[in-house]
Amino acid sequence: MVAFFCSFEIMINPIGVFDSGYGGLTVLNEIRKQLPQYDYIYLGDNARAPYGNRSFDVVYEFTLEAVKFLFEQGCPLVILACNTASAKALRTIQQNDLPLIDSFKRVLGVIRPSTEEIKSLTNSNHVGILGTNGTIQSGSYIIELRKFAPEIHIVQHACPMWVPLIENNSHKSKAGKMFIKEDVEHLIGMDDLIDTIILACTHYPILQDYIQELVGPKIKVIAQGPIVAKKLENYLVVHPEMEKVLSINGSCQYLTTENTAIFNQNARQFLNQEIESKHVLI
Ligand code: DGL
Repeated sequence: MVAFFCSFEIMINPIGVFDSGYGGLTVLNEIRKQLPQYDYIYLGDNARAPYGNRSFDVVYEFTLEAVKFLFEQGCPLVILACNTASAKALRTIQQNDLPLIDSFKRVLGVIRPSTEEIKSLTNSNHVGILGTNGTIQSGSYIIELRKFAPEIHIVQHACPMWVPLIENNSHKSKAGKMFIKEDVEHLIGMDDLIDTIILACTHYPILQDYIQELVGPKIKVIAQGPIVAKKLENYLVVHPEMEKVLSINGSCQYLTTENTAIFNQNARQFLNQEIESKHVLI
């Protein structure tokens, strides 16, 4: 594959990382720590976020638009760094759309890599999943986990308030912390034997320290970023045909469908650094 002309900067074949909003930045961060050599384009569909309460059809339609957009920017590989998009759109895109668009290009999600790791994380075989309405109602974690480790008992709880709280930077307020505490207590109350909680929404690592404080040291609170980064590294080892077309200038562009000033400001809490994003229509 030849290098594709990128309409924003230079001629590159970057890895595309997509999320409905800011949450995927927590995954991007970990991927860039693990694989700093590659070029990346991050796309946040902030203007249409949150996706969590949207229907299957709408999440699929928005996600496909984002994937096609990232392909047009030259990305041969796109990571859906969003559980909701992974749960509601990934399979259809992989099975129906990719063969028609370009059979070389690939789209990967965050649910499969996470479920593959769960067995190595739990001792009690009792695991709690926290996610958006969309992710929890899809049952994707339970369905995937059944394939690798049917002995693991899963309880799950949807936290529809958390993404809006985080996107509005209200999660540290007294009311915000109360909502979060109630949801965590609800999950823990469903099964006394839980020893691992998976933060199955890419926004939730922002709350990781607080949730860990709430549940105490006997329960591990796991964010997906490091898992997805490790699995991507493995994927590129076993897929050298993909690895060799990726460009390696260590660059990263941030694109948003929202106002860039708002994106730059809010992205700070996810990245701990200043960035300059560009506005796009997808
Ligand atoms: N970050 C997305 C996820 O991992 C959810 C955010 C949203 O509801 O848009 O599920």
